[in-house]
Amino acid sequence: MSNIQYIKGNILKLENYPHILIHSCNCNGSWGGGIAYQMAIRYPRSEKEYIQICSEGGSDLLGTCFLIPSYSDDNLIIACLFTSSYGGVGHGSKESILEYTKLALQDMYSQIQDPKVATNCRSVAPLTEYKLEMPMINSGIFGVPWELTENELKKFHDKMSFTVYQL
Ligand code: APR
Repeated sequence: MSNIQYIKGNILKLENYPHILIHSCNCNGSWGGGIAYQMAIRYPRSEKEYIQICSEGGSDLLGTCFLIPSYSDDNLIIACLFTSSYGGVGHGSKESILEYTKLALQDMYSQIQDPKVATNCRSVAPLTEYKLEMPMINSGIFGVPWELTENELKKFHDKMSFTVYQL
């Protein structure tokens, strides 16, 4: 059975169950386009935290994940996968984005097992019980064909299942 389920619709609709919204990020402190821009409008406090993390870590963040509370929605935690140093036209190559996506997902998986992380991101349940959701990451501004990212997600079939929203 596949570890990826597809749903049609906007991922930013409010849900009443604990979920982690996973998205692909640059390390340059910009949520200026795509899904990240929509999140910046809705979750300004989370954006501030993301900017702070980038200002401290820069490109050392590549291949890591940060879990940030959404602050305004108790059921939502935001997972930032750091997959490219820069956003926009300066984004990394398809190969590097895919490699950092794999590493960042592995990092996210490790953090989800750690109860201390759950406390830090104000979880309402153990993180292992959160539903893992994402848009078709990397396939917009980062320009990576979705099938390639999908292959990376499949490698986690024995660890994590994902719900992917398609517009
Ligand atoms: N619901 C579901 N899917 C969405 C939504 C939404 N509300 N908004 C955008 N999408 C889809 C896009 O159609 C695309 O298929 O999400 C996918 C990823 O789009 P991008 O946001 O362009 O993300 P990505 O290609 O991963 O590039 C990441 O863009 O999001 C910024 O700051 C971020 O620099 C980073 C870069």
